[in-house]
Amino acid sequence: MEDVVVLENVRKSYGMKEGVVEALSGVSLVIKRGEYASIMGPSGSGKSTCMNIIGCLDRPTSGRVLIDGRDTRFMSEQALAVLRNRTVGFVFQQYHLLPSMTVLENVMLPLRYQGVEKRRRKERAREILSRVSLDSRASHYPAELSGGQKQRAAIARAVAAGPKIILADEPTGALDSETGALVLELFKDVNERGAAVILVTHDAKVAAAARRRIRIFDGKIAEDVFV
Ligand SMILES: Nc1ncnc2c1ncn2[C@@H]1O[C@H](COP(=O)(O)OP(=O)(O)O)[C@@H](O)[C@H]1O
Ligand SMILES: [Mg+2]
Repeated sequence: MEDVVVLENVRKSYGMKEGVVEALSGVSLVIKRGEYASIMGPSGSGKSTCMNIIGCLDRPTSGRVLIDGRDTRFMSEQALAVLRNRTVGFVFQQYHLLPSMTVLENVMLPLRYQGVEKRRRKERAREILSRVSLDSRASHYPAELSGGQKQRAAIARAVAAGPKIILADEPTGALDSETGALVLELFKDVNERGAAVILVTHDAKVAAAARRRIRIFDGKIAEDVFV
């Protein structure tokens, strides 16, 4: 299977008033198409930094990052944004739905980056909303939804364009266990359709959904096992 994510000796430091903070201290990682990996580790260990770099939201201080076979090092911000929009679907703990757009419009958005025409975007977004049982909320605004509904809408948006990589940073952190289980089912479904899923969680029960389990400690990979 092709490598969809390659990190080679990735470091990321932040210059702060108090000195330099090294969030990632030499992370090397290969994720293949169709893989399902969880990432666990204490707060502040670098999990979100790692996800932001994989998702091309941030660049490393040094080291190499290849996403879908493309070396991101010398890519412009614009080229990086195109790669991100075509390849990656994000799910965050705090949903990040656009508040001024309806649920349907939020889910349609990533399809626009793919150049899908409007009528088809609407059809596809409706299909996906029905898969997450949100048909009846399509014309609502995010503020009118419960936490679980927002997260389902965020996942619908993340998977709408069929990205090769789904990145989820504590996606079940704010959900009750029933909604959390539904979210995991959705990830399982997109993973079985061929997407690589990378899931950051605090919860060992959530991590158990993944066959590959990675632990980060102090900006380094401390463990990486297949179960
Ligand atoms: N934008 C930033 N500016 C400065 N320091 C940051 C920034 N983002 C993260 N850090 C620091 O990097 C380290 C790793 O953070 P993070 O990746 O968010 O950890 P985790 O997601 O595992 O809790 C922490 O010490 C954090 O304070
Ligand atoms: Mg984090």
